[in-house]
Amino acid sequence: MASMLADPTREENAAARAELDRLWMRGTEFLGCRVAIMGGAMSWVSERHLVAAISNAGGFGVIACGSMYPDALAAEIAATQAMTDRPFGVNLITMHPALDDLIRVCLEASVGHIVLAGGIPPGGAVRAVKDGGARLVAFTPALVLAKRLVRSGADALVIEGSEAGGHIGPVSLNVLAQEILPHIRDVPVFVAGGLGRGEAILAYLEMGASGAQLGTRFAAASESIAHPRFKQAFIRAAARDALPSVQLDERFPVIPVRGLANDGTKRFLAHQADVIRRFQSGELSREAAQLEIEHFWAGALRRAVIDGDVEQGSVMAGQSVGMVTAEQRTADILEELVSQATTALIARRRLAVGLAIA
Ligand SMILES: Cc1cc2nc3c(=O)[nH]c(=O)nc-3n(C[C@H](O)[C@H](O)[C@H](O)COP(=O)(O)O)c2cc1C
Repeated sequence: MASMLADPTREENAAARAELDRLWMRGTEFLGCRVAIMGGAMSWVSERHLVAAISNAGGFGVIACGSMYPDALAAEIAATQAMTDRPFGVNLITMHPALDDLIRVCLEASVGHIVLAGGIPPGGAVRAVKDGGARLVAFTPALVLAKRLVRSGADALVIEGSEAGGHIGPVSLNVLAQEILPHIRDVPVFVAGGLGRGEAILAYLEMGASGAQLGTRFAAASESIAHPRFKQAFIRAAARDALPSVQLDERFPVIPVRGLANDGTKRFLAHQADVIRRFQSGELSREAAQLEIEHFWAGALRRAVIDGDVEQGSVMAGQSVGMVTAEQRTADILEELVSQATTALIARRRLAVGLAIA
């Protein structure tokens, strides 16, 4: 076990760190930082304080634009730039009605990396980002789409497994990594979803990833503005508490979102049952019923993150929440992840040397 190692020597630490830096060099060069770990954008959570803290500590912070409009985003970028001179990115949701203006705001503020999330980015948005001189990062849920995104100009990809917090696809990172990493060599690929320790990040780097993206662990960082009750809920929760939202009826799709089970998730089931009953009795049209279901969670993430209503709000969290055991400084989280990876490398090197001597 890596944690049972006798204290590593300075030389062992330096060699292991050099090895880690070699493994994620493509990621650090692409992002322009020392540690190829991105703070995954989290609506309401990934604002100036957390983003600047991650970038200042050597990682790569990403502002979550969420439903912000251009003026608010411009102010958030300026405030973040005032708190760090290191690079950071901005995550935009592709279905935002003001997407083109949001891209323009990023470019005018010289944001170097724009992450387009929430679906395959429209061609116009891809061109606008590239023509403006920024690097485009896109999410891919499958190999075919990964190839198409690279052909259409994505400079890096994120593969996010269903272990992640927030909106999720159906496939785990374990499987996505095996399907995609061996076949995408033209651009760096970052892995996300359920990552809480450095050994796991190391394993994906060795499979060909260039870096990782973590959300849940950073949400509970001391620099995160999330309400103390939101952070406490993370600290108390186990992996099994972070569940995808449940859809009751296939006629009324529910976008899967992973979060902590609470009164709100129970009420959501009862709400769906009631809406379906009203649809069946003719009281609601199909469209009206679908809208009633979709509106249930409106504003619910803000209620949990900012107001601290962790019983009725949406407490989005990944399965990695079980590895959040305390409120930690962002720099300490990054340092811990790096040290877990290098300790694993040292253990392996000692084993190899031991075997060679034997
Ligand atoms: C509270 C919360 C809010 C999130 N909001 C967004 C978002 O607005 N846009 C996005 O692309 N991803 C969002 N995510 C996903 C994260 O960026 C990241 O990919 C994910 O958290 C990685 O998995 P992990 O939580 O297991 O580390 C959110 C995740 C959480 C936990």
